[in-house]
Parts: sequence; C-alpha cells; structure tokens
Amino acid sequence: MASCAMFQLLLLLLLSIIVAPTNANIEGDALYALRRAVKDPGLVLQSWDPTLVDPCTWFHVTCDNDNRVTRLDLGNAKLSGNLVPELGKLKRLQYLELYMNKLVGPVPKELGNLKSLVSLDLYHNNLTGFIPATLSKLSNLKFLRLNDNRLTGRIPRELTKLGNLKILDVSDNDLCGTIPTSGSFSKFSEESFVNNPRLEGPELMGFVRYDVVGGSC
Ligand SMILES: *[C@@H]1O[C@H](CO)[C@@H](O)[C@H](O)[C@H]1NC(C)=O
Repeated sequence: MASCAMFQLLLLLLLSIIVAPTNANIEGDALYALRRAVKDPGLVLQSWDPTLVDPCTWFHVTCDNDNRVTRLDLGNAKLSGNLVPELGKLKRLQYLELYMNKLVGPVPKELGNLKSLVSLDLYHNNLTGFIPATLSKLSNLKFLRLNDNRLTGRIPRELTKLGNLKILDVSDNDLCGTIPTSGSFSKFSEESFVNNPRLEGPELMGFVRYDVVGGSC
C-alpha cells in the first residue's frame, strides 16, 4: 500500500517535471515565430538561435534577472512581413519597439495580453486592419504610438480606460468615426489624430453613439 502511494507520488513528480512550462523556451519560441514571419535583409536577427536555453543572449532582446524578456528593440531594422500573435506570450515585456520598419498586416489582438507593457511603438510601418480593442487591457501602458501606418476603422472607445497613457499617436492612418474624448483621452490634443482624412471631430462628452461603436465606419 505504502509503496503504491510512493509510486504515485513519484509518477506525479515526474509528470510535473515533464509538463512544467519553462518560460524561457516559451518566450524564445514566441520570438522565433517573429523571426520566421519577417524578412530580415539587414540580418539583425542573425543571433536569434532557437537552440539556446533562453533568448536572453540574442541581440535586440533584453531580459530581467529571471531571464524573462522585458524589451524588444527592433526599431529601424529594415524588417518586412507580418507581426505574429505569439508576441502576446511575452508576459513581462515592457517595451515593444518595432517602429520604422516595413511591417504589414494586422496588429495582433494578442498584444492585449502583454500585461507589463509600458511602450508599444509600431509607428511608421504599413500595418493595416483595426486597432484591437484588446489593447485596453494594457493597464501599465504609457506610450502608444501607431502613427504612420494604414490602420482603418474606429478608435476603440475602450482605450479611454488606459489610465496611465501619457502619449498617444494615431496620426497618419486611415481611421474613421469620431475621436473619443473621455478618460485618458481628455489630455490628448488634435495632434495625436491628424492626417486621418475620414476621422471626424471629437465626440461630444457623454454623447457616445454606442450603436456605431467599434468596427468599420
Ligand atoms: C508602404 O507602402 C507604400 C505603398 O506600397 C510604399 O510606397 C511605402 O514605402 C511603404 N512604407 C513603409 C514604411 O514600408
């Protein structure tokens, strides 16, 4: 009887070792998914070797003391291609810097899972599609720069919940609808929104037409 319990315990232990997620590999795999999805003529991702135990020695990647990724610095890196949903797995990522590349396709809604994110800089690419409303889950976000892309649709009202947002720039896109003015958006000037030919003026306080919130215009 005792040996049976012992055996079960051993089995459980063994199983937990096998099943236990090693964050390092999850994060390395997530970053490697990005490497596979983009063209990299400048070879800035050449050091991204997926056989290493974690991505912390890769160029343009910064980790904390637990070897978890906190920064991705790939601004002005000549990257073209798509962003990948796997980026949403980098739970301690604070800085996602992918500005001034030639990225196309949508902003993955999974970026809303980056709970630690302070700065999301995707400006000056050729991103298309809607601004995901899931970005409103990024409660630590201070800088949101999506300007100079080809984003369409409405500015999600949910983003006004981002209490820590200091800088917002969605200028130079193809957004439409009205500009939210409540919550954190009360401190942003017209400059944050210019050069969106189909974007109408600020909406009147307390007069949101919920029937037209979200989606296309
Ligand atoms: C975006 O696409 C346009 C048209 O294809 C192109 O002229 C422009 O250089 C692209 N911009 C970036 C930043 O990739």
